Amino acid sequence: MDVAATVDQQSQQDVPFYEPVGNECELFEHAFRQHLPFLLKGPTGCGKTRFVSHMAARLGRPLYTVSCHDDLTAADLTGRYLLQGGETRWVDGPLTRAVREGGICYLDEVVEARKDVTVVLHPLTDDRRLLPLERTGELLEAPDDFMLVVSYNPGYQHILKSLKPSTRQRFVAMSFDFPPPAVERDIVAAESGLPAQQCAALINLAARLRAMKGQDLEEGVSTRLLIYCATLMVNGVSATQAAQATLVEPLSDDADVQEGLMEAIRATFGED
Ligand SMILES: Nc1ncnc2c1ncn2[C@@H]1O[C@H](COP(=O)(O)OP(=O)(O)O)[C@@H](O)[C@H]1O
Ligand SMILES: [Mg+2]
Repeated sequence: MDVAATVDQQSQQDVPFYEPVGNECELFEHAFRQHLPFLLKGPTGCGKTRFVSHMAARLGRPLYTVSCHDDLTAADLTGRYLLQGGETRWVDGPLTRAVREGGICYLDEVVEARKDVTVVLHPLTDDRRLLPLERTGELLEAPDDFMLVVSYNPGYQHILKSLKPSTRQRFVAMSFDFPPPAVERDIVAAESGLPAQQCAALINLAARLRAMKGQDLEEGVSTRLLIYCATLMVNGVSATQAAQATLVEPLSDDADVQEGLMEAIRATFGED
């Protein structure tokens, strides 16, 4: 199976750190209890994946994460017959395993997947909650503990790659964005170990860099990159060099755009 599916059998003790921004944890829990599928929208690196792994651990459910790509087919999710030692054997895909076990299946960047994937998702996301496996002749009924979660980034969505209304109108949906400054400061501090005061300077810088989005930049600098920057700083890289390597180079290849970003960085940290 060539699907990048990771199974995190987390115990209640090691719930991954997630700092809530609003009522997202409560809303997710309601959706889980009421057997409703959940859709997360938001820019890259803003905490969607962390949120889902946090909630799965909190709810004590196994998590099956699939990073969708343009070759991903329905069979990659449901399963297929594989030749093993001269015998053909059915092997469940991550979605089927989540349905059988009562876990959470998380389809990251779902808009990238092939169109036939939605055919599988539709009967699972209405009140039937069914997963038909044509190949094995099974019709699986999702248990109460099964939940489908999907996410995508509306920022770099093209017309060809968006969810059809008939699909998106099956989900409880929520927009994610970069956390407000004080929350993001605490997240960067907790994840990197950089003192809060230095993190605050980094968050101020991020606001200036994010303000440049649109004109020259496709996406604003992510929380993930701020954590990278803080991590380099904690380990002795100068602030300006760390910022160049994490907040400039990953965002743009354009010399003028890079220079604009560097100006904001020097204004914050000086030359070093
Ligand atoms: N609210 C949050 N609480 C804790 N960590 C967060 C939060 N938001 C972002 N992060 C940090 O940012 C990193 C990137 O977030 P991630 O969930 O991978 O982004 P996405 O899936 O939206 O691309 C995470 O690994 C985590 O360190
Ligand atoms: Mg992610």
